[in-house]
Amino acid sequence: MVSQKQLFPLPPASASPEILIFGDPHGDFAPAIAAVERFRPLAIVLLGDIQARQPLHIELQPILALTEVWFIHGNHDTDSDTDYDNLWGSELADRNLHGRIVEIAGYKVAGLGGIFRSKIWDPRQPVKEAAFVSADALRRSMRREERWRDGIARRHRSTIFPDDFQQLLRSGPANILVTHEAPAAHPYGWRAIDELAETLGVQLVVHGHHHQNIDYLAEGMQTAAAPFRAFGVDMGSHLAWPWDETGMGSPPQDLLNLAAQVFGVEAQAWLNKPHELLDGQTPAAFAAGGGSEKVRSMLNAIQHGGVA
Ligand SMILES: [Fe+2]
Repeated sequence: MVSQKQLFPLPPASASPEILIFGDPHGDFAPAIAAVERFRPLAIVLLGDIQARQPLHIELQPILALTEVWFIHGNHDTDSDTDYDNLWGSELADRNLHGRIVEIAGYKVAGLGGIFRSKIWDPRQPVKEAAFVSADALRRSMRREERWRDGIARRHRSTIFPDDFQQLLRSGPANILVTHEAPAAHPYGWRAIDELAETLGVQLVVHGHHHQNIDYLAEGMQTAAAPFRAFGVDMGSHLAWPWDETGMGSPPQDLLNLAAQVFGVEAQAWLNKPHELLDGQTPAAFAAGGGSEKVRSMLNAIQHGGVA
């Protein structure tokens, strides 16, 4: 039996979610474009590791008139000059939420892009033990010939510096915190993310980076007494906000049962994996958005020996 709670409920196709928050695109924008065309959210947020193959505003051209686009960067956005330039050199570069709070669709959304790198700062240590408190301090320590484009190394443009973290910490309150790194409830998460969320007073933390859909409360990794709800979002997947606690928008139970019949313990993995026959959306999201008939016929085809 597949637990309905493990899926991200989406509003019915007739109702517009306010914000869709997408897991790391890694160069594939088809799921985001398809979801925006289908659900017409007021705004979207990309959770980093964007790695656009063309400038981001060109990749997202089909939806720029349909929704407001926001993002944070991830560690892979500084892997190459192309990754860097297609994000920071794009016409959407000013939509980076990193280190600030912006009102989006009526919610104050705080962003922390990038990752912690211990060569700069391990947030388990006090700031005074950080090797460099800011990008500027690092730059000043470098000889001219060591610099990249007269600044810090490209790689460290996706490193979280203590000054940026602390400035955001002092900028609250906010309603939602989007991060690339995970909060402490994740095995590779950070207590510093929880501290930031609690200081800002957010009710929701959503992160990318680990390529997993996780509802921390449903998975028992967080208690109902926690000061905020936390979710991880996988590549090709998204979280709709406001969250529908009733699960009204989730796929029908008979479809979940059919998936469990066809795939057994792999049902959840199949439901949460983007599928090319569904415009790159996950079967769970597609079914929840009113497309359960198509998902059901795919499952039937697989059950009877076809491929889908
Ligand atoms: Fe990442």
